[in-house]
Amino acid sequence: MIIIRPVTPEQTYPLRHAVLWPDKPLDYVKIEHDNDGYHVGAFSNDDLVAVISLFVDVDTSGQSVARFRKFATHPDYQRRGIGTQLMHHIIGEARRRHAVSLWCDARLDAADFYRRFGMEPVSEVFYKGSVPYAKFSLTLA
Ligand SMILES: CC(C)(COP(=O)(O)OP(=O)(O)OC[C@H]1O[C@@H](n2cnc3c(N)ncnc32)[C@H](O)[C@@H]1OP(=O)(O)O)[C@@H](O)C(=O)NCCC(=O)NCCS
Repeated sequence: MIIIRPVTPEQTYPLRHAVLWPDKPLDYVKIEHDNDGYHVGAFSNDDLVAVISLFVDVDTSGQSVARFRKFATHPDYQRRGIGTQLMHHIIGEARRRHAVSLWCDARLDAADFYRRFGMEPVSEVFYKGSVPYAKFSLTLA
């Protein structure tokens, strides 16, 4: 059984590092404003097997805009529906916080996954190191 619950930023670092940026130093996966985020983990038994982090900001027009970052499921647990559960949780949380939209910098590898939730590309392709990305967004309001 999978349990989803809030975690600390520090709890997310090992999975962020191992899954997303294993070739970088651990500090690379820390976000300056991690303490302002809402971090959620999926636990199998007592093992943390997937993480995602939500940040909500107010834009120049005074509207709340949500962004998620550093989404990672341990390879042994991928494609079992855990990421989907975390996405539903984060979308619900963004709505609860009255965000008008939810966006992320999506690895193009994961684009089809994000399309399942109605997210669409809203930028040109760009690169972080050698990894191609595009900004994907979902309108909530
Ligand atoms: C993207 C990621 C977080 C998804 O988590 P997950 O736990 O594997 O997701 P799910 O098991 O809920 O996947 C749901 C469905 O989407 C599909 N899917 C998962 N990852 C996919 C991907 N990268 N591309 C296309 N489809 C994908 C699954 O096959 C599954 O399909 P099914 O319902 O037909 O079986 C995970 O694959 C991951 O950590 N990838 C490596 C890191 C990464 O790319 N993170 C995102 C950075 S923007």
